[in-house]
Amino acid sequence: MIDTHAGMGVTEADFNAIVEDMMAAMDKAGIPLGPQNRLLARLAALRGEIIER
Ligand code: HEM
Repeated sequence: MIDTHAGMGVTEADFNAIVEDMMAAMDKAGIPLGPQNRLLARLAALRGEIIER
């Protein structure tokens, strides 16, 4: 994941925007909050590998 996103200059705001889009999509699809949060927790763990500081 580090190699894939290296050099893209992905910011905290970019990462947060994807998370917000996913929450909206999961709401629209009727996915309950529990499973939503379990997925988002897994993605949040990747934050440090995707964002460039
Ligand atoms: C939770 C956040 C994210 C996850 C889990 C994620 C995951 C992935 C994965 C699995 C790939 C495919 C890697 C491969 O083909 O080997 C990928 C590619 C890519 N990601 Fe992400 N990504 C995330 C966030 C972002 C963000 C925020 C951006 C930019 C705003 C981004 C831009 C890209 C681009 C452009 C590619 C295509 C790279 C290529 O094919 O050359 N990603 N990402």
